Amino acid sequence: MTGLLQNKISFSSIKDNLCDMFNSNAKTPLIDAMQNYKKNPMTGFHIPGHNRGAGVHPKLIDLIGKDALALDCTDEFDNLGTLHPATGAIKQAQELAAATYGAKRTFFITSGSTSANLALAFALTSPFDEVLIGRNCHRSVLTGLIISGAKVNWVIPKKLNDWSIFGNIEAQAIEEKLKNNRNIKLVWITNPTYEGVVSDIKKISEVCKKYKAALIVDEAHGSLWNYNQKLPTTALELGADAVVHSLHKTGGAMTQASMLHLSKNSKFEEEKVIHALKLLHTTSPSLLLLASLDAARANLSSSSGQKMLNNAIENAIYFRKEAKKIENLSVLENNVEIDITKLFIKMKGLSGLQLEYILEHDYKIEVESASDAGLLILSNIGNTRAEFEYLIKCLKEISQKKYKFEHENIKIMPLIDPEIVMNLREAYFAPKELIDKFDAIGRISSQVVALCPPGISILLPGEIIKKEHLPYLFTYDKIEVIRE
Ligand SMILES: Cc1ncc(COP(=O)(O)O)c(C=O)c1O
Repeated sequence: MTGLLQNKISFSSIKDNLCDMFNSNAKTPLIDAMQNYKKNPMTGFHIPGHNRGAGVHPKLIDLIGKDALALDCTDEFDNLGTLHPATGAIKQAQELAAATYGAKRTFFITSGSTSANLALAFALTSPFDEVLIGRNCHRSVLTGLIISGAKVNWVIPKKLNDWSIFGNIEAQAIEEKLKNNRNIKLVWITNPTYEGVVSDIKKISEVCKKYKAALIVDEAHGSLWNYNQKLPTTALELGADAVVHSLHKTGGAMTQASMLHLSKNSKFEEEKVIHALKLLHTTSPSLLLLASLDAARANLSSSSGQKMLNNAIENAIYFRKEAKKIENLSVLENNVEIDITKLFIKMKGLSGLQLEYILEHDYKIEVESASDAGLLILSNIGNTRAEFEYLIKCLKEISQKKYKFEHENIKIMPLIDPEIVMNLREAYFAPKELIDKFDAIGRISSQVVALCPPGISILLPGEIIKKEHLPYLFTYDKIEVIRE
């Protein structure tokens, strides 16, 4: 069955667990190599100095267990392979991932999609290259462009003002930008948004082709899409040249483990990306994180992983249906397309932050994130129906109670159109001064202000600071501006 997962897994193609035994996607070369490493310990005189856990504080052993420490190693052992260059079991695991995702080449990353974005920017853009970027991009894309010195052009996604979030990016908006600036040779957008809103990547990639611009899609929050027909289609199938996946976010890999894919027909030179990754990635990648990528891919390809994903989707459908019956509760829908596993909700009379507080303190429920406008719940492969039933019960109860909070008014944050007056990199390195934020209105920012999660920039070096920025600067007394 090699390569079958290059497209989405069809449920009928996986009849039972037996199938998995003959499925090359079920192979786990790196997990197997790690098993072997664990079973055949050697006398070690190398990094990491704790030597399979012998040199750590007993409390750490207590906390995470001997096994985890015995497996904490980097890629310098023959039977495990190396990451840069890819050799041995690591190379095999990357190749299996590439086949599963339908990519020409897949790279494993142990420092998150942040590093994948940094490497793409560093590899593919040069000083003053013009790049078109969705304003809702993760700050790592911009950090990458500070490193490279490329010039940012913004495409502003649709504004969902009622929810205080950005929505989809329209192909037409991209076409207008490309038509008016023929120097733009790279378009870089985020899809889906953190809250699950999906853009029409097929149309966007057609526009990019028309204007001979390459397309990068930061699909950090869409790493499950390849594995189920009910989820949106991955940009790897829709004409993107490179795609980034945070497998650690929703795919079942361990925190910080991500993948960077070059698509089958990618315009990008593999060697440039390899070189950038080598320079920017840690030289001591954690084998535990790499093995977790191997496991996540194999799990999602297996019949049991498919069941987990199907449950996550069914739970999300259940939640959406039940939430409709709760007075004053709304769930974000999109008239274009949405990843249904991401549940962005709001309850009349409460801010998202207040609702988060109640869920946490009164019901011991932790959500993904909250803002004044709403609160994000993820229906994950690790959640059960019982957990969703409990959540619905709690929301029902909350909707029927009256809460009193010290600050009753709910702030709705404005979605601000940036005014760029200086190149990002120039502004970042220009002489600067720290001034009171109220005196900063009208001045040029030299600071990156990005609320995390999801790490979307509010203000960047080279942009004019406006009155509308002030609500976002509530934790700042002073702000760094370009010296006049
Ligand atoms: C769209 C997007 N891209 C990239 C990243 C960075 O991912 P990581 O946390 O894996 O470094 C994030 C993080 O939230 C994100 O939302």
